[in-house]
Amino acid sequence: MCGIVGMVNGHPVARDLVTALGRLEYRGYDSAGVAVAGPGFEVHKVIGGTTELMGKVGNGFAGHAGIGHTRWATHGRAEVRNAHPHVWDGVAVVHNGIIENYHDLRGRMIANGETFESDTDSEVIPHLIAAARKAGAAPMDAVREACTELHGAYAIAVLFQDVPDRVVVARQGSPVMVARGRNVAAVASDPSALSALCDDYAALEDGDLAELSNHGVTIFGRDGQLAQRCWQKVEGAEEEAAAGLFGSFTRAEIAAQPVALRNTDAALAGRAIPQAIADAERLVVVACGSSMYAASTVRPWIEKLTGLPCDLEIASEYRTREAPLSRGTVGILVSQSGETADTMGVMEMLKARNVPIVAVVNVQHSQMARGADLLWPTMAGKEQGVAATKSFTCQMLALIRFGLALGLARGTVTSGTLVAVERELAGLAVVCARAEMLEGQFEAVAERLVREGEALFIGRGSAAALANEGALKLKELSYLRAEAYAAGELKHGPIAMIREGSPVIVCAGAGQHAGKSLANAEEVRARGGYVIALVDDASAAAFAPVADEMIVLPGAGLGTLFAQAVAMQLIAVHAAVVLRHPVDRPRNLAKSVTVE
Ligand code: G6P
Repeated sequence: MCGIVGMVNGHPVARDLVTALGRLEYRGYDSAGVAVAGPGFEVHKVIGGTTELMGKVGNGFAGHAGIGHTRWATHGRAEVRNAHPHVWDGVAVVHNGIIENYHDLRGRMIANGETFESDTDSEVIPHLIAAARKAGAAPMDAVREACTELHGAYAIAVLFQDVPDRVVVARQGSPVMVARGRNVAAVASDPSALSALCDDYAALEDGDLAELSNHGVTIFGRDGQLAQRCWQKVEGAEEEAAAGLFGSFTRAEIAAQPVALRNTDAALAGRAIPQAIADAERLVVVACGSSMYAASTVRPWIEKLTGLPCDLEIASEYRTREAPLSRGTVGILVSQSGETADTMGVMEMLKARNVPIVAVVNVQHSQMARGADLLWPTMAGKEQGVAATKSFTCQMLALIRFGLALGLARGTVTSGTLVAVERELAGLAVVCARAEMLEGQFEAVAERLVREGEALFIGRGSAAALANEGALKLKELSYLRAEAYAAGELKHGPIAMIREGSPVIVCAGAGQHAGKSLANAEEVRARGGYVIALVDDASAAAFAPVADEMIVLPGAGLGTLFAQAVAMQLIAVHAAVVLRHPVDRPRNLAKSVTVE
């Protein structure tokens, strides 16, 4: 979370900085700011995003070196005084990460007579660097010295008023890339931010420092010696779903699912599994948010195809639980961004215990993708909406493909099963496209949910897991209270919530124990609940007398599941539209969560 950029250029950098920041807004959009130097030293910060910031910097900023930040608040509210860059004594800093010992540092500095403007953890950093400068350290040495006092995670870019032709960068725990182009040296949290300006980039490693100047980029390792890092080509801006026709990127990304699924399938079909992974005796899938729900939804397929037990673990919990790992465990990390801090924490933990790691990741230049023993990519393309949509369905597909490949390597997939699964996978893109065509019906459901102010999602088997994603999507986009339960659990407590008119969305289809869910729908109805059934063709006749509203979805089996996912995405988008919420940038959220 939080995006940082920095640049040294032969001409004024402010507008380029803000343009690059715009491509990092998925990392946070509470506030944004830039500082530029040489000539002059100017700082500007705004509440909100880069559109507001661009309006402010206009053409007025002359500096040829600069840094910028787009924020997701951790310490301190979204106010201008908490926005970055933070400046002290001619040193400006932008920071991504969390400084854990900021309280002690700040106390010491206040006792020293220094003053603070913000509530952030980050503001101690320019104070430390400025103190080192005052004591005579050169810019790079001052940053190095300051870093020895910082505990926690950081990627920082530093601008100096008195040395206005350079930017110093440091990394510990938070991702950051340095990049080079014609007459420009730059830094950014994500190289795609610099695709218009730079030709190649290198990911810094923990403990690295880098200097950007008119001479280019120089990298130093933890030992202070010049370091060689792997330079890669900055890819041109990926083709992005255009929000224009659809009203939001999120809605456009829902429409892009058929293409994303096809691309993912084409990339993974026929891929082989290395022996170290084929020898697995147990699988543990670790993820956060929607990525976890994608995995839990398709777990039955993974288990059936591989014959292996597949545990599911929420990364933030798993990394602190010290769970015993049985011999032959293979870890599967699922992440759109490939940089979620908790999932990365688990990656380190599993590596330390020599567990082979498979990464199901969408951002392929990410640290998670690069550090895995096997990268099993999703090819969803860039997802700009904060809420996961096309990345979610691509993860489901990729995980089933992984189960199939692993099952083939282990000899647990018969030729009949192979043909049947391949046929189902081949049909998913069309099913999603057909589900989208039922948008009017999803819109009507959304209006009802908004009127009632709440929703309960239930299902059985894979539909129970998917119900969690339905509730999550609705919470994220509409901020309505939404819960999900395995339908069989309803009677063990949650049914007490049902009142006259409570909307209950029941997901049911062949392979989802529809008969049993029907009985649960009856129980809801008997208590005055309003049953909205998302069913397949085969279950429609049975649900017709029970459901207050029924949407018959395309597809069967696996296809139903994907159609239900699309249905839930569209219900959530429309609820947000009715409530006039920003669909792409829901309040309080960020797409990439690089703090614990
Ligand atoms: C954030 C996003 C979610 C996402 C979760 C996990 O909370 O807003 O959409 O599911 O992080 O992110 P990852 O990149 O690891 O899939």
